[in-house]
Amino acid sequence: MPIRSSRSSFLAIKQMRSIRVSWGKQIVSFNIEISEKDLPVLSAVANKALALMQNDNVSNNQLDNLIKQDPALTQRVLHVANTPFYCGGVGSRTISSAIMRLGLRQLRNVILMAASGELFNANDPIAQGMWEHSIASAMAGQILADQLRVSGTDEAFVAAMLHDVGKVIIYRQAPNEYRELHEQASAGGERIQAAEDKLFVYFNHSTVGALTIRKWKLSDSVAEAVRFHHDLETVLPKLENENLASIVSLANIFANNLGYGRPICEWPAVGKMACAMHLRLTPERIQTLVAKVQGAIETQLPKAAV
Ligand SMILES: [Fe+2]
Ligand SMILES: [Fe+2]
Repeated sequence: MPIRSSRSSFLAIKQMRSIRVSWGKQIVSFNIEISEKDLPVLSAVANKALALMQNDNVSNNQLDNLIKQDPALTQRVLHVANTPFYCGGVGSRTISSAIMRLGLRQLRNVILMAASGELFNANDPIAQGMWEHSIASAMAGQILADQLRVSGTDEAFVAAMLHDVGKVIIYRQAPNEYRELHEQASAGGERIQAAEDKLFVYFNHSTVGALTIRKWKLSDSVAEAVRFHHDLETVLPKLENENLASIVSLANIFANNLGYGRPICEWPAVGKMACAMHLRLTPERIQTLVAKVQGAIETQLPKAAV
């Protein structure tokens, strides 16, 4: 049975509760509570626009009229649409020209990027670091999907962009505690999710992220890729969309290893990971992909933050 179809594989959110733990020599109180109401919502207009775009017959006019009803979203969509990643030197001053230029698939990515960008406080360096990691991963995800041309990876950009959205949600809820967790994990050379799993009884950033994806009514494949992005070594063959999950996991490794996060491992070791093996990546292919992703990130990411 595929893991995604088992409700028990996702976190029962009502079970989340605060905990108190001892950590190493230090007694740390982690009173972090996250319940469904703490998971962010997309703006009503963003929600409606995403729903409208599922209908192939939606007109540009309908979308233009809808998005313009939310001035903040309009501004952010235009900002994202005019970043080098999307603009290619041709900017848009209006939503209608952005829609014409981008097309529906790209517009969906832009709306989700604009809407999720609101979660990351622009004045907080930790949140900005998380945001840059998201964008670097999204770029890597898109490039990997385009280059490898495996099926089921249309949503690589969105899934990679949102793979760590759970981190920013936990951070907004308990900034001091989560900052300390990150600092101690870094000092001890421990992965963040491993530290979370020691401290949080009922959740980690992957489960919180997957629940948010569900709340936003994105696809099951995206939720699955987010939920299991750190677990592929054990669960990959049981997943419904192995290709998307592998691309997202690899995109996360690329972003980290290219300086947007903590390096995961040496590049030669990446080829032995479940995601790379599933995608049949040779060391030479990995090197070529790294060069492509690095080139894109270096030229486009510095201006991509919203
Ligand atoms: Fe993660
Ligand atoms: Fe990540």
